[in-house]
Amino acid sequence: QDVALGPYRHYMQKEIFEQPRALADTLEGVAGIVPELFDDHGIRSRAAWRVFAEIDRVLILACGTSHYAGCVARYWLEAIAGVPTVVEIASEYRYRTSVADPRTLVVVVSQSGETADTLAALRHAQALGMRQTLAICNVATSAMVRECELAYVTRAGAEIGVASTKAFTTQLAALFLLTLVLAQAKGRLTAEDEARHLRALRHLPAALQAVLALEPQVIRWAEDFAGKEHALFLGRGPHYPIALEGALKLKEISYIHAEGYPAGELKHGPLALVTGAMPVVTVAPNDALLEKLKSNMQEVRARGGVLYVLADADTRIASGEGLHVIRMPEHYGDLSPILHAVPLQLLAYHTACLRGTDVDKPRNLAKSVTVE
Ligand code: G6P
Repeated sequence: QDVALGPYRHYMQKEIFEQPRALADTLEGVAGIVPELFDDHGIRSRAAWRVFAEIDRVLILACGTSHYAGCVARYWLEAIAGVPTVVEIASEYRYRTSVADPRTLVVVVSQSGETADTLAALRHAQALGMRQTLAICNVATSAMVRECELAYVTRAGAEIGVASTKAFTTQLAALFLLTLVLAQAKGRLTAEDEARHLRALRHLPAALQAVLALEPQVIRWAEDFAGKEHALFLGRGPHYPIALEGALKLKEISYIHAEGYPAGELKHGPLALVTGAMPVVTVAPNDALLEKLKSNMQEVRARGGVLYVLADADTRIASGEGLHVIRMPEHYGDLSPILHAVPLQLLAYHTACLRGTDVDKPRNLAKSVTVE
């Protein structure tokens, strides 16, 4: 047993449980929503406030789990900051002919800061004349931090498990702060909004701790999943990328084929696959889309599908025949995607353990992909 693991069986489990600490550290010192947060402690040449005033759109480039963090951020950036945002997979962006707009803030999101495709996409954007760049990275000394004008270094600490967990939730926290700073720069953030969002951010570590306490219920779900070969994950709005991330986690470490889908697309394809043999996980917080999501869930039940629903404290859905509900302790508002990611990490982790796979080093995958 590795001493660094302490009471945990795997690094992934340790890193999942470190998330309250990782978020508290990442948000430490965030007393107000000030652009200087992105100045990387004065190392960079440009002041963040000037960069943020000069841009009127955002382009997020990333790979894997970091790409899904970007996909969540797009919902925040457009809804809260009113800034048009595009999120692109780095390996696609770097090789296609695209239209560059110099008034774009290019944001690279990367745990390692060294992923070859993301770094090449950054350089490609710079070569196209986009000079306003921001790195959201977990490694302060990484190439991306060095090569961007601005940086926000998450303080998740070293992440050993190949499947990213604490890096993802801290990236989301950083991207939420970016949203607030841009909202402020664009004159869209009232003092009350700022105070409310800061309160919610400060509460995040405690909220996350309470979500981790749901582990025994997630283990019961994992016992059902361990014998399956396919799973579907559904979400809507900012929880759609969380469904994608839930599916990615499960496939990476348990080798169960899993797909994430926006729930509204169910009827355009995946519904044909639904049988009792393919569990359907649904991320269902009580938001504006809940009623629509409930009718998507009906479509699954009507075809004999078995639902595993993550509901929040305000969602009125009860467990029943073919419907398993885990209730999250609170209703989380804008930060809800961060909290809903965690039970899905635990589901992937425990399913993989039951299947006996090499959780921290899944076959064929690497922690940091620095070659093409
Ligand atoms: C690899 C890892 C993933 C990670 C992705 C992007 O595929 O296995 O966990 O999300 O690279 O890595 P980055 O360091 O750029 O976030």
